[in-house]
Amino acid sequence: ELQTSTVSKLRCVHFRNYEIDTWFKSPYPQQYSSNYVLHLCEYCLKYFSSSFTLRRHEKKCPYSHRPPGTEIYRESRLAMFEIDGRKNVVYCQNLCLFAKLFLNSKTLYYDVEPFMFYLLCEIDEDGYHFVGYFSKEKLNGTNYNLSCILTLPIYQRKGYGNFLIDFSYLLSRREFRLGTPEKPLSDLGLFSYRNYWKISVAKALKMLVEADKAHQISVDDICNLTGMIHNDVIVGLEQLKALVRDPETKKYGIWIDMELVNRVLAEWNEKNYVQVKQERLLWKPVI
Ligand code: ACO
Ligand code: ZN
Repeated sequence: ELQTSTVSKLRCVHFRNYEIDTWFKSPYPQQYSSNYVLHLCEYCLKYFSSSFTLRRHEKKCPYSHRPPGTEIYRESRLAMFEIDGRKNVVYCQNLCLFAKLFLNSKTLYYDVEPFMFYLLCEIDEDGYHFVGYFSKEKLNGTNYNLSCILTLPIYQRKGYGNFLIDFSYLLSRREFRLGTPEKPLSDLGLFSYRNYWKISVAKALKMLVEADKAHQISVDDICNLTGMIHNDVIVGLEQLKALVRDPETKKYGIWIDMELVNRVLAEWNEKNYVQVKQERLLWKPVI
């Protein structure tokens, strides 16, 4: 209560060469939220109240030029890192504090041990630059395959959120499981997921039709191809107007408007967003 009643002045974070406006409050220690600007080390995500103390830190930053964890995916200038919340407690706590600046919902900050963090980086001559991430609970009895997702505002609307979501489903397929994101979703989360479910179901339908299976497609087939749970497949099918109810039997069936499916896919492909290449993932599920 005391924490929430103290006013946070924080309005923006200095990150790399960017000044990023913050969207929501994050529980940084009081002495850091009494300034308008917070200075972040782009590699270890540690926070400083002045650019002077940040510069001093940068000379001895332990994670200089790359994040901790294991690189599990690399394709041209993009890499994904898997970071264990138990092995890199402070890094993951700093990551969560940073992410909270752009997340409305209550998220974890200190209890990071039960989670894995999957970090997307762009690579250039200076090193690995943090673009976005998602977290995932390690051992859970639910079918959640993603707990929290963020694309840094400076990288949003370029297809990276879609890349991260696709990656989360790829991990689920490698685990031979069906997955869904943890609820509730933010507005932006819902926009992104609804779009992803539509595209993903469209791809699956096209594949099944091309394999000459158009007359025997079931929701389960689509679940298995995509790694998506039943409900989310239905949301995708609805957007493709592919769910029809037989007026006599009152049962739902799948009816494919191939023209619509092709149009949806063509419009998406035109954007030329980077795609996850499954064969580039070097990863085995934790058992
Ligand atoms: N408005 C409308 N549609 C959107 C929006 C938006 N602001 N953002 C994404 N979409 C839809 C669009 O169809 C978009 O394609 P388009 O940009 O070509 O029209 C498509 O999703 C893919 O968008 P991406 O560029 O891949 O998404 P982005 O990299 O911007 O990341 C994300 C999406 C992660 C949700 C980002 O907005 C974000 O970090 N938001 C703040 C944190 C947040 O709310 N996270 C989700 C919380 S819920 C949870 O974590 C389970
Ligand atoms: Zn650092």
